[in-house]
Amino acid sequence: MGRPEFTIDAEGVRKRYPKAPEGTGLNGFDLRVRAGSVRGLLGPNGAGKTTAVRILATLLEADAGRVSVAGFDVATQARQVRRNIGLVGQYAAVDEVLTGRQNLVMFGRLNHLPSPVARSRAEELLERFSLTESAGRSVATYSGGMRRRLDLAASLIVAPPVLLVDEPTTGLDPAARAEVWEAVRELAESGTTVLLTTQYLEEADRLADRISMLRAGRVVAEGTPDELKATVGGDRIDVVLSGGDDVTTVLGLAGRVASGEPYAEGDRVSVPVAGRTRALAELVSALNEAGVEPQDITLRRPTLDEVFLKLTKEVVR
Ligand SMILES: Nc1ncnc2c1ncn2[C@@H]1O[C@H](COP(=O)(O)OP(=O)(O)OP(=O)(O)O)[C@@H](O)[C@H]1O
Ligand SMILES: [Mg+2]
Repeated sequence: MGRPEFTIDAEGVRKRYPKAPEGTGLNGFDLRVRAGSVRGLLGPNGAGKTTAVRILATLLEADAGRVSVAGFDVATQARQVRRNIGLVGQYAAVDEVLTGRQNLVMFGRLNHLPSPVARSRAEELLERFSLTESAGRSVATYSGGMRRRLDLAASLIVAPPVLLVDEPTTGLDPAARAEVWEAVRELAESGTTVLLTTQYLEEADRLADRISMLRAGRVVAEGTPDELKATVGGDRIDVVLSGGDDVTTVLGLAGRVASGEPYAEGDRVSVPVAGRTRALAELVSALNEAGVEPQDITLRRPTLDEVFLKLTKEVVR
C-alpha cells in the first residue's frame, strides 16, 4: 500500500449527540492534513474540536462521513489507527496513584520498549518537561500544569506517526507552554503529523503550518496563518486615544484614509488601510490639524484574533 496523500483525511463527518440541541456536534466536517505538517484546529467553545479529535482517535463513532488516519479507516480499521496515533486529551490520562516516573516507564513498557530503554526515555522526558524534581511523587499531588506536561511526555515515549493534541497548553504558565511548543515542533521535524486544537491564537500562529477554523461543527476557513490574515484585509493603523480625545472625531478622520470600516474598541481605534505609510502620514497630519494628540499610533498587520472574530461572528448558513 502506498503512503496516503493525506495523513488525516476526513470528509462530510456528522455527529449528533443524543439529547443535545439540533446543530451541536459535527455538521459536515472536512479536514485534510498532509504528512509531517502541523495543523491547528481553532474554534470557540462548543464548536466541535474535541468531538473531531475523539472521532479521529477512534474514541467516538461518527454518524456519517468518511475518516482515515495514517491510511486506515477509523470505522473498520480502528486497531491499526490506534497503533499509529498518540493522543493528548483535554483531560489528563495519567494514573493518579503512580509517581510521574512510574507513569512514564509504564507507558514505555506498554509500548513494548525494553525496560532499560523505557527507563532512560522516561528520565529524558522528565528532564525535558522540568519534572525531574517531582518525578518520585504520586501524580495525585501534581498541579494541573504538571499533569499536562506529564501527559504530553507520556504521549512522546514513542514518537507516533500522528499526534492528536487537544488544547495542549491550557492551564500552563508561559515557561511550560514554551516547552510544549518546542516538543511539538521537534516532533513535527522528525516527521510526525500533528493536529492540535487550541484556544490560543498565538499558539496556532506560531506552531501551525495551516489552520482550520471550526464553527458550529464545520470548517468555515482554512489556510496558512498569513492566508487567513489576508482574508480580513490588509494592514491596520491602531490609534490609542488619550483621555481627552473624542472617539467619534477620530473615527471620522480615520474614515478619510481607511480602506474599510474603522472600529473603536475601548481606547483604541483600529483602521484598515491600503497604502501603508502614506495612510499613516495622512492620518497623523489629519489628527494634528484637528488638535488630537493620541497616546500612540502604530501600523500593523492583521492578527489571527481578528480573523477569528470575523469568522465566528458571521452568520452560518
Ligand atoms: N457527550 C455529549 N453529550 C451531549 N452533548 C455533547 C457531548 N459532548 C459534547 N457535546 C456538545 O457538542 C458540542 C461540541 O462539543 P466539543 O466538546 O466537541 O466542543 P469543543 O470545540 O471541544 O469545545 P471546548 O472549546 O469547550 O473544548 C457542544 O455544544 C457540546 O455541548
Ligand atoms: Mg474541547
